[in-house]
Amino acid sequence: MPRMINKIVRRLRDYGLWPTVLYSGYASYDAYQSWQLGITAAMRASRFFIPHAESRLPGIEYYSHQPTTSYYMFRYVFDHYILPDQRDVFLDWGSGAGRVLLMAGATYPFCRMIGVEYDVQLAAFSRQLIQTSEHRLRCRTVKIINLDARLYEVPPDVTVMYFYNPFGPAIMQAVCQNVRESLIRNPRELRIVCYRPHVFDVSIAGSGWVAKVAELFIPCVSRDSIAVYKTVPERSSRRRVAVTR
Ligand SMILES: C[S@@+](CC[C@H](N)C(=O)[O-])C[C@H]1O[C@@H](n2cnc3c(N)ncnc32)[C@H](O)[C@@H]1O
Repeated sequence: MPRMINKIVRRLRDYGLWPTVLYSGYASYDAYQSWQLGITAAMRASRFFIPHAESRLPGIEYYSHQPTTSYYMFRYVFDHYILPDQRDVFLDWGSGAGRVLLMAGATYPFCRMIGVEYDVQLAAFSRQLIQTSEHRLRCRTVKIINLDARLYEVPPDVTVMYFYNPFGPAIMQAVCQNVRESLIRNPRELRIVCYRPHVFDVSIAGSGWVAKVAELFIPCVSRDSIAVYKTVPERSSRRRVAVTR
């Protein structure tokens, strides 16, 4: 409780009254939803788990672990733009402590979910977290791959991807190339959600295989935007034209 009061006082000082009231509204929504889904303890644990520095990628750019904070933002974007159902396969790039897998699995009936995480401790922690929360999940087929994302070959059935600011430009470039190769092997509609989308935007600039369909900024929840993309079905549209002729 004193921690909460301290936080509110700090917000009042830094942002003023109205933004603090709005923020408290969103935070209460998150707390209520977690309670309803029965994942309050797991959400808390996933938010505060901090890995040791030594398990990080040596010698290359590394975007450190920072868990998705707002269930409201996640839910808003998925309810309005993604609408997942039981045919969808979800992939979280840089899945960290498993927070997004937890939110997604508790809320939507994905067919299966995959997390790709380089950090050994985070991967182990998230596996444990998902296992102990399994009875609360609508999607219980969850695999966490402990690997550098650049080396991960995207499975042909992945339809929804999430990036919560996981990579710098070089890794993002390699990951986008992997995604593109997966689409060439198996053309399909892929929906991509990207928080703080600048690096992703730079990586896909001029490539033409994916288009931004929305970019949202939710004041008082986050200072950064969240963007939604859909793949541009070049090959399938060409095929459809050929058939109608
Ligand atoms: C900002 S956190 C996001 C965590 C989680 N997706 C969430 O939203 O709660 C980014 C994660 O990407 C991971 N990461 C960074 N570089 C990576 C790489 N090359 N391969 C796999 N994971 C990586 C980090 O270890 C970190 O856990």
